[in-house]
Amino acid sequence: MVVFLGWTLLSVCLLVCASQGQKNFTAESGQNVTLTCQARKNIQTVKWSRADLGDEYVFLYRDGRETLVHQHPSFKDRVDLKDKQMKDGDVSLILKNVTINDTGTYECRVVETGTSGLKPISIIYLSVVDQPRRPVGLIVGLSVSGVLIVAAVVGFVIYRKYKG
Ligand SMILES: *[C@@H]1O[C@H](CO)[C@@H](O)[C@H](O)[C@H]1NC(C)=O
Ligand SMILES: *[C@@H]1O[C@H](CO)[C@@H](O)[C@H](O)[C@H]1NC(C)=O
Ligand SMILES: *[C@@H]1O[C@H](CO)[C@@H](O)[C@H](O)[C@H]1NC(C)=O
Ligand SMILES: *[C@@H]1O[C@H](CO)[C@@H](O)[C@H](O)[C@H]1NC(C)=O
Repeated sequence: MVVFLGWTLLSVCLLVCASQGQKNFTAESGQNVTLTCQARKNIQTVKWSRADLGDEYVFLYRDGRETLVHQHPSFKDRVDLKDKQMKDGDVSLILKNVTINDTGTYECRVVETGTSGLKPISIIYLSVVDQPRRPVGLIVGLSVSGVLIVAAVVGFVIYRKYKG
């Protein structure tokens, strides 16, 4: 029931949020997330940054390759361009195995050939939540206590019967 409601809300949000062009995105920890960014063709530089990281970036592609010098350590080996060729200007970024610490506002900026300066393309607010705890443990626990209570009552009744 709860799961059903969750999915319904999610679907509604996907519809409503998408139609309003919002760039809010929620993920569960452990998932791989794609931060979408669609630029025009002839990309020279791609920079993905997060406002709270200061000078360190999430991902930087420059001079024909990925540059790692000032990449924030938490993104080491966890980010990849969705399309390494950046065909048709798709510079979306895949962020693997997200944690709650990846929550933040991500900005995608590019330099197109023949222009100078980073041009902001998209801003995405990513919110990562811990995976909901499965209620299996709870149900098992309740069942076990149920059995114990029944056993105790039965035991008590038998005890009374023998005593009486
Ligand atoms: C995204 O979510 C944040 C916090 O939940 C909210 O403050 C902000 O207005 C939202 N932005 C959009 C574009 O929906
Ligand atoms: C995330 O991506 C990695 C490699 O790209 C893959 O091995 C892993 O199964 C993916 N994880 C999820 C939750 O999809
Ligand atoms: C994902 O991250 C968690 C903690 O951040 C780590 O324990 C786990 O091994 C990682 N999983 C993968 C597939 O890299
Ligand atoms: C998040 O960051 C805090 C402080 O930097 C760290 O203690 C914690 O282990 C991190 N959590 C995850 C899931 O990476």
